[in-house]
Amino acid sequence: MEGRAALPNAPDADMLAFMQKDAATLSARLAGFPRLGLVHPPTPLEPMKRLSAYLGGPRLWVKREDASGVGMGGNKLRKLDYVLHEAVAAGADTLVSGGVVQSNSQRQVAAAAAKLGMQCHLAVYHGRLAAPTREYGTSGNALLNRLFGAYMHDVPWTGDRNGAIESLGEQLRQQGRRPYVVPYGVSNALGAAGYASAIAEIAAQSSVAGFRPSAIVHCTGSGATQAGLVIGASMALEDTQVIGIDIDAEPERVRADVIKHARAAAKLLDTLFDESNVDVVAGHAGPAYGIPHQATIEAIKLAGSLEALILDPVYSGKGLAGLLALVRAGRWRADEDVVFIHTGGTPALFAYQSGLAI
Ligand SMILES: Cc1ncc(COP(=O)(O)O)c(C=O)c1O
Repeated sequence: MEGRAALPNAPDADMLAFMQKDAATLSARLAGFPRLGLVHPPTPLEPMKRLSAYLGGPRLWVKREDASGVGMGGNKLRKLDYVLHEAVAAGADTLVSGGVVQSNSQRQVAAAAAKLGMQCHLAVYHGRLAAPTREYGTSGNALLNRLFGAYMHDVPWTGDRNGAIESLGEQLRQQGRRPYVVPYGVSNALGAAGYASAIAEIAAQSSVAGFRPSAIVHCTGSGATQAGLVIGASMALEDTQVIGIDIDAEPERVRADVIKHARAAAKLLDTLFDESNVDVVAGHAGPAYGIPHQATIEAIKLAGSLEALILDPVYSGKGLAGLLALVRAGRWRADEDVVFIHTGGTPALFAYQSGLAI
């Protein structure tokens, strides 16, 4: 970026050295956790110049977790890279997970299983939302699950996210397989600790680009993504706020889960956790989980037409809708830098096509 040295929040040489030292501590701690290589790090950090100009600032950047690696990418792969190392080391031959019909998480588990040569069984939850389009059950992530060779087991949604996944794992064990159960959303302590690696990358990439992010904004659901970001930022980007946009329409439940996973990840990374750093913003989930509203559609269209980014109607579209609302409410000065994490979800756009009027 031209003229970076003149920016008021550009780090001076001492600050740069300090930032790099802290990112090095985080990277060194993360190096104690082996990963499989499903992710191609670092994912790009790109300026969103046209969207920034459209809004009149702040300077917006996008961390391309949608381009993280196998099977059309997404934020869960970064967690899976660590979590599935444990599965391989344990000698598992089968991955078991689950989610709603258009879950990106279970599609990334299915992709990883295909790549690793493991069987994949998914508890596919029906009833959390009514199918919003005629293609909902067959296109997008549902199509990719079939393409990746996953076995789908239809189960009713009861609100217990892990119950049916665990019983499926137990059934497969009794049938003689060696299953490894990946929790809903790949949200557990190791997944959260692994996600802190995104902060190590952002710290390094932003210092090279000559800025310090005032905030990192992303959509939050099962909580381990935000937990990893909060713990990582406390170690390597201390002045940067992490802001999770609730897309589940359950901000209190989300906040409690972020705190639970952050506490566990802090233990693994041998660092401290301060609950006051958990900022979950409500009000941008639309009418319910999985149902896009006008603001979601506006965000998807702006990202597509100005930045050629493909957001989805369930997660990243609502995340950007939340960021747009914060920008319009004057949360940042025009000369500040804010990073939006594109957490993926690309295939779901196609499963919602007939309902979107794009
Ligand atoms: C595209 C996308 N973005 C964000 C999230 C939320 O991440 P987390 O569940 O770790 O809060 C998900 C979860 O499924 C997702 O699929």
